Amino acid sequence: MDRITLDVTNAMAAAVGPDHGVGSDELAALREPAVQALAAVEARRVQDLRWMDLPYANDVHDEVLGYAASVTGRFRNVVVLGIGGSALGNTALHAALSSPFHDLAPPPGLPRLFVLDNVDPDLVGEWLDHFDPAETLFNVISKSGGTAETMSQFLLFRERLVQALGEEGHREHIVITTDETKGILREIVEREGYHSFVVPDGVGGRFSVLSPVGLVSSALVGIDIKGVLAGAASMDEFCRDASFEENPVLTYACLQWLMQEQKSKNVAVTFSYSHRLRDLADWYAQLLAESIGKRTSRGGDVVHKGPTPVRAVGVTDQHSQMQLYAEGPFDKWFTLLSVTQPDHAVPLPSAYPDLEGAEYLAGRDLGELFRAEREGTRVALTEAGRPNVSIVFPRVDARSVGQYLMMMELAVAVMGELYDVDAFDQPGVEAGKVAAYALMGRAGYETRRAEIEASSPTEKKTS
Ligand code: PA5
Repeated sequence: MDRITLDVTNAMAAAVGPDHGVGSDELAALREPAVQALAAVEARRVQDLRWMDLPYANDVHDEVLGYAASVTGRFRNVVVLGIGGSALGNTALHAALSSPFHDLAPPPGLPRLFVLDNVDPDLVGEWLDHFDPAETLFNVISKSGGTAETMSQFLLFRERLVQALGEEGHREHIVITTDETKGILREIVEREGYHSFVVPDGVGGRFSVLSPVGLVSSALVGIDIKGVLAGAASMDEFCRDASFEENPVLTYACLQWLMQEQKSKNVAVTFSYSHRLRDLADWYAQLLAESIGKRTSRGGDVVHKGPTPVRAVGVTDQHSQMQLYAEGPFDKWFTLLSVTQPDHAVPLPSAYPDLEGAEYLAGRDLGELFRAEREGTRVALTEAGRPNVSIVFPRVDARSVGQYLMMMELAVAVMGELYDVDAFDQPGVEAGKVAAYALMGRAGYETRRAEIEASSPTEKKTS
């Protein structure tokens, strides 16, 4: 099986100089800590890091595919109601592995997919203005089963379904993915008898894309989820045995740590030279930010760690952010996602043979131009002393995307060890959720509400 590869040439001191690039000696010095870090993560595979084994949960994959097959042709739309780790993977998989125009012109028998990961009334209200809940399957996803955004959307759409289809009829339009036993959504599943899937223990939101969280909506829109899982498994197996030098997980984790801690690169830019891979960069942004962005070390010292992830799309952002990247502060390092073999050949015609400014493109393929733009960016960044690596996808397919997802999850887990932070909690996110519950008057959060009100400045009216 072709594997995605990591090319670190332009992140090394030999390419961008010792101030910004990593010396071979600096990387080699991390060999032992990195190998130990991966071993420490590996030791937790059968304990609390159950996400590592998701690619091997064949029974669950069959259950998801069986459910998708059972509803084939029944719905014009699938709507994911979820947020954060319960939405970003769904969007990333759909963007990468469905046609970019799937939702405008869905293949026969397949539904459109909408991921409503916001409670902005102008998003949800517009959806209701344009689409019919009675033609829609709602995939409600929440690991905790109580997140206010997701719960409010569930209540809203459930009510619309009941109005249109009645108490009994609405039930087949809802499928819920949540914890096996805990949370309000699980209680609702039991009361209503909705079809449901489980987010297993040891699978946090941002590590859940390969569980039913990401798989159900993907299977419903016809994505080859077995291919994604096979790709993830192949990356997992390869990285378990690969030497430090050959191991993309260890190399990437070490580079992230070295770039921030030794080379003052606080910003990690994922620059996707693939339109279809662009939302993987959003998925990775959450994975990196929530996992490594921490106030305290595992020992309890206040450290305020964490890189700032940024997403850019080639070539679009060459005409937007590239100026900053080439000439602005030396506070960034770059991961280019590049694709060796596009699916389409798009040759350019000749129209004005006497106009050299147009004619040089005639007979060339858009893929050549895209590649030239990507290489141009790589060279420009490198010559400007901006460290960059490339993750090279042989092509954009289910297997390579599965490999990428697993590579980055493992790399971030190893980063947690190197940064000495807990990569699997999210106290900052939880604090925001608690504040929202308090401000919305949820029972049990009265003390927090009083604290917030006491500390908030009195609102001043301007006229
Ligand atoms: O990664 C995380 O833990 C978070 O981003 C959650 O996924 C997000 O807050 C949604 O939580 P839940 O799935 O419990 O509704």
